[in-house]
Amino acid sequence: MSIYRPIAKNLKRWQSVDDFSYVRLHQNESPTSLLSPAEIAQILKAHDTKSGEISYYPYMQSEQLAEAYAQFLKVPTHSVLMTQGSSEGIRLIAEALDRAGKTIAILAPSFFAFEFAFSGPQTTVVRVLLNENLELERSEVFRPDVMNADVLILCSPNNPTGGLLSKDLIIEILDTHKGLVVLDEAYMEYVPKDESFVSFIDRYENLAILRTMSKAWGLAALRVGFIVAGPKLIEYFGKFQIPYTVSMHSQILADYVLRHRRPQMEAAVASTIEDRDWVEEELANIPGIRVYKSHANFCLFAVENGLDMENKLFSDHKILVKYFPLPRVGDCIRLSISVDRKKLEDVLAAIAAIQAAKNAPSKAI
Ligand SMILES: Cc1ncc(COP(=O)(O)O)c(C=O)c1O
Repeated sequence: MSIYRPIAKNLKRWQSVDDFSYVRLHQNESPTSLLSPAEIAQILKAHDTKSGEISYYPYMQSEQLAEAYAQFLKVPTHSVLMTQGSSEGIRLIAEALDRAGKTIAILAPSFFAFEFAFSGPQTTVVRVLLNENLELERSEVFRPDVMNADVLILCSPNNPTGGLLSKDLIIEILDTHKGLVVLDEAYMEYVPKDESFVSFIDRYENLAILRTMSKAWGLAALRVGFIVAGPKLIEYFGKFQIPYTVSMHSQILADYVLRHRRPQMEAAVASTIEDRDWVEEELANIPGIRVYKSHANFCLFAVENGLDMENKLFSDHKILVKYFPLPRVGDCIRLSISVDRKKLEDVLAAIAAIQAAKNAPSKAI
């Protein structure tokens, strides 16, 4: 038997467009950097010399950063585990579990990395399908195979749908589900009401929450995220973490931003929400487009020939968006609110032009 997994034949390496002259609306990044390059240099310079030197390994887990993030979430410091973005958190949880012969239930559609990290040759994945309005129905999540799954992975607000799961429904799930419940809250800062479950980690020992500084905090390049859970789970996952995954510079800058840029982060979030609601309204006026209400920093709309639209935006307009063929819904485009309103106007004009050309009567030959 080969050591190499047969599934590799069906996989493609992740492609990234590293040309920053494109309008980048494909990765749900923030348009606002909370630190200027000069400030970054100054903050790093001001840090004490030993920890600022690059020939030494960074802090394993910066106590200071953990404390700052815990204060932001209003949870105890021992309830957060720093990871290299929440991507490492997803992979760490998956790798720390004995998944052979086990069942993992995952929302569908949801963030691709869940299935990517948790599936494996001896693991069964069951999908918890959203309905045609991209909502989670109670009957779907309370299916016996979902409730008996060893792990249930939820995401709220969900990517790529933008939907927020009902708080009552999540409480009912947590009261019933015996296995591990993983709840990804990467976009929770974009929800004005308190819908987060971080304050529930004491009540539910089987709850692990994923958070990130890549979205609202605008630190995608630094790769900083956290697992938030009760002390037993944090201790358990910590044992499986490869040391030193987050660079010293990332830890220092993330700590600074948490302590000194909270009002700016909140202002950036408010402006993104305003722009998102406006883009959703404008999109809804374009013929052939159906918009799904989003609670995150992106919009999602259904459109016929979505792949064609993604390609045209890329090649004719230098705009990057993400195409998803979604179960029960069909072709969709996800578009991040990652640029200012002026640029978003150009994006909307490009989408309207593509739709108009599609609907125009073809010329007689
Ligand atoms: C739902 C969700 N979780 C996690 C991530 C990973 O983010 P990061 O690794 O940058 O923290 C993303 C990124 O888009 C996401 O959408």
